[in-house]
Amino acid sequence: MTTISPRGNPRSPRVAASTSDLLAWYATHHRRLPWRLGPAERADGHLPDPYRVWISEIMLQQTTVAAVGPYFDAFTRRWPTVGDLATADEAEVMKAWAGLGYYSRARNLKASAERVAADFAGRFPADETLLLTLPGIGPYTAAAIVAIAFNRPAIVIDGNVERVVTRLYAIATPLPQAKPAIRAALERLMPVERPGEFAESLMDLGATICTPTKPACAICPWFTACAAAAEGTQDSYPVKPAKPDRPTRTGIAYVAIREDGAILLRRRPPRGLLGGMSEVPNFGWAAAKGKVVHPPEPPPLSGAWRRLNGTIEHVFTHFRLVVAVERLTVPQATPAPDGCWWSVPDTLVGEALPTLMRKIIGVAAGPASDT
Ligand code: ADE
Repeated sequence: MTTISPRGNPRSPRVAASTSDLLAWYATHHRRLPWRLGPAERADGHLPDPYRVWISEIMLQQTTVAAVGPYFDAFTRRWPTVGDLATADEAEVMKAWAGLGYYSRARNLKASAERVAADFAGRFPADETLLLTLPGIGPYTAAAIVAIAFNRPAIVIDGNVERVVTRLYAIATPLPQAKPAIRAALERLMPVERPGEFAESLMDLGATICTPTKPACAICPWFTACAAAAEGTQDSYPVKPAKPDRPTRTGIAYVAIREDGAILLRRRPPRGLLGGMSEVPNFGWAAAKGKVVHPPEPPPLSGAWRRLNGTIEHVFTHFRLVVAVERLTVPQATPAPDGCWWSVPDTLVGEALPTLMRKIIGVAAGPASDT
């Protein structure tokens, strides 16, 4: 059956999108991912482990499938079940998370594992409303677990799915206002018996074919059904909201280095930005634009601190941070001030240091630090 596009463009006759075409494509072209069961295993009546689906979804909120792989393997090898994670040492979980960012998510993982162990006898509930009561599980993750791990009807909308659906139907409303239209389209398309594969197939289509730039429309199972492809307007979708203004904050990081290469560290307060992670002493991060100036408080040790050339920039969700780095080399016998400790090079790798701090230490203690 041919139809006229929803925008009424008479030059774009096309067929209606078929869910079976998508699932047939997925049967051959799905990505093999460590937390997944492929269509053949699903057809044999198997379902993926909800614990692994949950961990993967939380990790994938922060970074790409390729980057998640090694973290996922290490994490699930160390804590293979939700019960193992429930009894894990929180500091160890934070360390395993270091590098993935947003450490509150690691803390929530541990708290949710405890809840699943205590309140649900170690089994994830197959229900979006109950899943939403677990720390760190929002509507997207709840729907993903229900659909993917339990194969129950739930509408899963991530960035890939938004792109596929807004192109397919040329939905020109900007995000997030377009979400109800996207949801309505998915409700019409979702197959009652295979919601898990449906969600995964949309993610894979978005990741491998309906990519943000240069989509491979010629090999897309929905090419003939796609309104944007018919119009040649794929690059216009999804229509993005106006960019938020990110304020700039400035700060100073103090990297004290002992003769044996040990770095002076302290722990951040348990809650808030990078909560509970380790850091080099620092000041500032105040909402001030412009030059990085010395704060009224003294550095953690007295001595001839030397400011390094240049600054380090890091973008957080709500602000951009510009950090000046100061460096001081101290004798071996220098005691660590209250609340701080010395971390020798061998232990530094295992410290729960956020990426920003690793950058700062790399600049201050790395080979180019004297230039
Ligand atoms: N992106 C987010 N969740 C995903 C999943 N389960 N599989 C592949 N890509 C994803």
